[in-house]
Amino acid sequence: MNDLAPLAELVDSARAEFAAADTPAALENAKARYLGKAGRITELLKALGALPIEEKKSRGAQINVAKQQIETLLNARREALAQAELQAQLRAEALDVTLPGRQRGTGGLHPVSRTIERIEAIFGSMGFDVADGPEIETDWFNFTALNSPENHPARSMQDTFYVDLKDAEGRWLNLRTHTSPMQVRYARAHAKKHAGAATMPEIRVIAPGRTYRVDSDATHSPMFHQCEGLWIGEDVSFKDLKVVFTDFCRAFFETDELELRFRPSFFPFTEPSAEIDIAFASGPLKGKWLEVAGSGQVHPNVVRNFGLDPERHIGFAFGMGPDRLTMLRYGVNDLRLFFEGDLRFLSQFK
Ligand code: DAH
Repeated sequence: MNDLAPLAELVDSARAEFAAADTPAALENAKARYLGKAGRITELLKALGALPIEEKKSRGAQINVAKQQIETLLNARREALAQAELQAQLRAEALDVTLPGRQRGTGGLHPVSRTIERIEAIFGSMGFDVADGPEIETDWFNFTALNSPENHPARSMQDTFYVDLKDAEGRWLNLRTHTSPMQVRYARAHAKKHAGAATMPEIRVIAPGRTYRVDSDATHSPMFHQCEGLWIGEDVSFKDLKVVFTDFCRAFFETDELELRFRPSFFPFTEPSAEIDIAFASGPLKGKWLEVAGSGQVHPNVVRNFGLDPERHIGFAFGMGPDRLTMLRYGVNDLRLFFEGDLRFLSQFK
């Protein structure tokens, strides 16, 4: 009788059961069904005792072959399960080194701040000091000291933000409508510092900062920036203003291919007064006159309010718009973009 076929089937069914066992515990249970005390192989070996000696030998050998095959299958499956468990553990504890690190967002300077820094650097290289002053201003510094008559329209509610507080003279404080009051603040401090001396060093200063007017459209914002300039000495003339401002514009726009035009104008605090226009010789704005600043020789009344003698101290002042300069330099056509805080716009200037 051929007993090999049932043995081969036994090995096959052990292989299938071992393969189906997907945990070490399930595999040990499956093993017990073949090789355990009451396992099928063990039962077969026990049954050998009843056989005649010759048959016992050959049958025993066949069963042992099957037993070894089953043990081999068992070990292979144990090894496979151990490997799978190891892999699962490695996967669970894996560090994904390809994940980009967490970065701290890098900020950047606002484009208008960049412009102000440029203005400071260029005028600084020409010997100008940089001054800073209050944004809430008194009526005297903002208007009166600058020779603006009491009934000047710039004082009207349409132009000016007033603060619900009065100064010592009983006048409403305002959000400064220009940086020009800094001329008076700086010059008075300078005059006081050098009072009594035989000669006074020249005043050479710029004062950039925020200014406010009741105004809002594509080219006006209720908050905007100005940068004041003042140069007072004993023989400072309009010619000096022309040289200084031309040098500034060429340095700021990084081109010598730029023309300046002084167009007669009116400001209460200067006489004569001029608007400064520039025109580029090339580029998208080629040949167009663009207004960039107001300027003029400082009015004698204003020099008097500096605490200086207008017969002796003369010079010029100018006021420009850093926002406008930024728009021209970067080709931005809507002022409001600067103050909306949209990072898609602002991050282009990083
Ligand atoms: N303060 C003037 C304005 O806001 C600008 C200005 C014009 C300033 C002439 C000056 C100047 O210093 O001389 O419109």
